[in-house]
Amino acid sequence: MPPATGAVAYAAAADSPPAAGTVLLGRYELGGLLGRGASAKVYLARDLLTGRSVAIKSFPNPRAAGANAAGAGDRPVAIEREAGILRRLRHRHVVRLHEILATRKKVHFVLDLAAGGELFSLVDASGRMTEDLARHYFRQLVSAVRYCHARGVYHRDIKPENLLLDEAGALMVADFGLGAVATATDGSSLLRHTMCGTPAYVAPEILSRKGYEPAKVDIWSCGVVLFVLAAGYLPFNDASLVNMYRKIYAGRFRCPGWFSPALRDLLRRVLDPDPSARFDADGIVAHPWFRHGASDEELGRLMHGGGEQEEAWFGPAETKADEDDREPTAFDILSFSPGSDLSALFVGAGKERVFVGEPAAAVLARVEAAGRKGGYRVRKDGKRAGGGPVYVEDEEGGGGVVAKVSVFRLADAVSVVEVVKGDGADAALFWTELLEPAVKPPAVS
Ligand code: ADE
Repeated sequence: MPPATGAVAYAAAADSPPAAGTVLLGRYELGGLLGRGASAKVYLARDLLTGRSVAIKSFPNPRAAGANAAGAGDRPVAIEREAGILRRLRHRHVVRLHEILATRKKVHFVLDLAAGGELFSLVDASGRMTEDLARHYFRQLVSAVRYCHARGVYHRDIKPENLLLDEAGALMVADFGLGAVATATDGSSLLRHTMCGTPAYVAPEILSRKGYEPAKVDIWSCGVVLFVLAAGYLPFNDASLVNMYRKIYAGRFRCPGWFSPALRDLLRRVLDPDPSARFDADGIVAHPWFRHGASDEELGRLMHGGGEQEEAWFGPAETKADEDDREPTAFDILSFSPGSDLSALFVGAGKERVFVGEPAAAVLARVEAAGRKGGYRVRKDGKRAGGGPVYVEDEEGGGGVVAKVSVFRLADAVSVVEVVKGDGADAALFWTELLEPAVKPPAVS
């Protein structure tokens, strides 16, 4: 049996956020801060109507003054429909989105509270768990993923931070489907904020930007999670990021000696770089490693019966706007576009990395043209095997480097363009106005 975790797991993590004590829309009293992402903060909160504890994830409203304006059109209707689907997802192992509250400045998601902390807190001193325990949680993960996929909902960002536990120690996948509602092209994305860390969980077909099946992308990430749980380290890793992408792209990984033959076999089929050959959720469920030690009846319960919860504890889900602040709609927060803007993965101080599916020469030619158009001197070094670096320099301003652009080849069809931006307002303006459009390939749909 997995260890039971208590509701105290978060007590140490909670601090006193400035918002503590605030009551949202007369209904939710904000408590301690549970977690913080690049743009969202998750608070413990109490539903004053029912007395239940919930988690509230607060984002800056992208429609707020100064934020990237999302387009109007019929998108809110489509997004509303999508959000409706998300709010109807009811699964034992999926953190439920109960409602969305909007104010002019913030958007708040009211979520199930996962009181047991992160799944990865259960690994032992060597950073791993037994194969049996890994199987226990992997089954719950796959059950959640399969349920959502069957309803056309995809996560697209399955990684340890999103795998939480409830107070009874059961796995809860957080934010399921929040990525899937993203169709907008406003450039702001949930991924931009939630995937600033390692891209170690990203499927290879995302790197090639040729379009992808979101279900297969989720399955890949589940495979990486399973590997990490049972091994205690990542399947694709390297001190060099570019080498790491190469390993992901080639699906090159090695299992540790203690993995059973059945687990190795399953991982080969899940971490298959060819998405069309990769297992789907049903393939995983049928695999002997997944079924080991469980009766058909038990698995059936987990995969089907254990799924839908009996009732919504809030009654019909609805979306509210602040009384005196009806615009913008709550659904604006969902106008994100994860999956299409990979550069968001690698935002760092003065550095951007963008995946492209075209030859280095084509990208660098556009960079040169952009540099000249901006009135800068363009100098090619040409030492790198992939392409570049190309230096864009400000002749008038004393020859300072405005941008340095290098291309690293990952595979025939895939490269990483690395842009190191110079300091100063001119360099920043050059990046947004000319260089970024030149570097980024047309978005995939
Ligand atoms: N952190 C992110 N989402 C959470 C949730 N639903 N419950 C607890 N902590 C969280």
